[in-house]
Order: sequence, then C-alpha cells, then structure tokens
Amino acid sequence: MSQAAKPSPVVQVAELKRMRAAGEKIACLTAYDASFALVEDRVGVDLILVGDSLGMVMQGRPTTTAVTVADVVYHCRCVAPQLSRAFLVADLPFLSFATHERALDAAQRLMQEGGAQMVKLEGGREQAGIVEYLAVRGVPVCAHLGLQPQMIHKLGAFRVQGREAAVAEAMLHDARVLGEAGADLMVLECIPSSLGRAITEAVAIPVIGIGAGPHTSGQILVLQDILGISPTVLRGHTPRFVKNFIAGTDGIEAAIAAYVAAVKRGDYPAPEHGFGG
Ligand code: KIV
Repeated sequence: MSQAAKPSPVVQVAELKRMRAAGEKIACLTAYDASFALVEDRVGVDLILVGDSLGMVMQGRPTTTAVTVADVVYHCRCVAPQLSRAFLVADLPFLSFATHERALDAAQRLMQEGGAQMVKLEGGREQAGIVEYLAVRGVPVCAHLGLQPQMIHKLGAFRVQGREAAVAEAMLHDARVLGEAGADLMVLECIPSSLGRAITEAVAIPVIGIGAGPHTSGQILVLQDILGISPTVLRGHTPRFVKNFIAGTDGIEAAIAAYVAAVKRGDYPAPEHGFGG
C-alpha cells in the first residue's frame, strides 16, 4: 500500500489561511464514514467535508434536498474520531439555516454532537446575515457560491453558473460580501475558470474549487467520484471536472494519495477539467 508522508501541522482555520498566503494548494475531499476518513487523513488530505452530497452518494437519492441535520451529524460522528490532522467541515443541509435560530441550532449540533470544526452553507449575499450571526458566536463558516445543489428544484438541472457577465459580476459581489460578513473559507462550484480566478483574487480567505479552474487556493471533489464508484459516475454521468484517480494505481489509498499530490503540484485540475466563460 502506498502512503504519502504525513504533512503537518494539524489543520485549523489559521493553517488554511497560511496555506493560501503561502500559495500552497489545499487538498480537500468528502468523506462520510470511518474507513475512508482514516485513509484520507493518513495520506494528507488537508480538509474533509461531510457534504450533503451524502444524500446522493450514501443514500442513493437524486438530489441533496432530503438530507437532514441528523443525517449530517451521524456521518460526522463516523468521520471525526478518525482524524488526527485533517480539518472537518460539515454541510448545513437544505433549509436548516432558513432562520438565524435554526442555523445556530444546526451548527451547534454539527459541532457539539458531530465534532465538525466548521459549517458550510450555500448561498450569496442573502446569507450574509446568517454568516455574521454564526461567525461572531465562534462558528467558523464556509460560504458556497456558483452551482448551489440545494437550489436544484429552482434551477432544474446541475449546470455551470456565472457564464453571463451580469451573473459573474453579481457572484463576485456576493463573494466580497460573504468574506466581509465573516466567512473563513469559500467553495466555488461549477463556474468558468476565469471567474474562479477573479473571485479568488477578490477575497482574502482561502477559496476551494470544484469545477472552478486551477487558480483557487485548493480543490475539493467527492471521494466516490474519483474512485469511479459514485452512483452518478456508475450511471455514466461523470462531470467534466471529475478525474478518476484509481486508474493505474494499486488501490484506494494510492488513488487518494495521487489526488493529494496532483492538487499540491497544481497538476489537477488540468485545462480539460475546467469551464470556459
Ligand atoms: O456536498 C458536497 O459534497 C459539496 C461539495 C461537492 C463541495 O458541497
């Protein structure tokens, strides 16, 4: 079994910010269970997300909207005890942050019961009040712009966001507002690479991309996508930004180590994994 040398130190918000400032790429993956979490932590994944993608990957649903706070807490409790270095982020699922009180209650559960160190929420400037409300109470927040899967029933399909100049400009503004509201991290999903670069340059916090091009501070993918075993990939719908890392390796640990190394070197994402404007 291949196993990359474990980088140090333990990852916290300050370390993520240092990495951004130093130009060191941040390698992130989802995990929902103990076994994969342990492997990811051992091979040097910097940040692990218990994403609401668990609804599609673990529960086999077509969207993330049925995922509950209890579901995310359950999977956090599987993952958190395995981590000795990686930073653990948990998703606030659909409608769990519809009011300030619900957001605080959900964040409390994810952090106190689940062991998460940060919560992630989808949305633009309309969420700035919630971000600030959580941040001033000691809850680190990751914003999530671009494709917001929780909006699927309004969007109609998972597709690239921000190709039109006005939408791109609004997203840039959203990013600045969310950073000023106290977000410590930002995820950009499925946007043109040029917009990924513009947003990363416009905000001071680390920016993690998924289908947002090579210029962000780091990358995140769904673990089962890079292993070729997610329901989406098995059904033949591999998103453009997904690369299969298990091909040509001798197993899962080597594949995850290869992903980390590719992100760190800047080899992933390659131009073919990105979207044009
Ligand atoms: O739910 C999730 O896994 C996510 C990532 C795809 C960023 O939000």
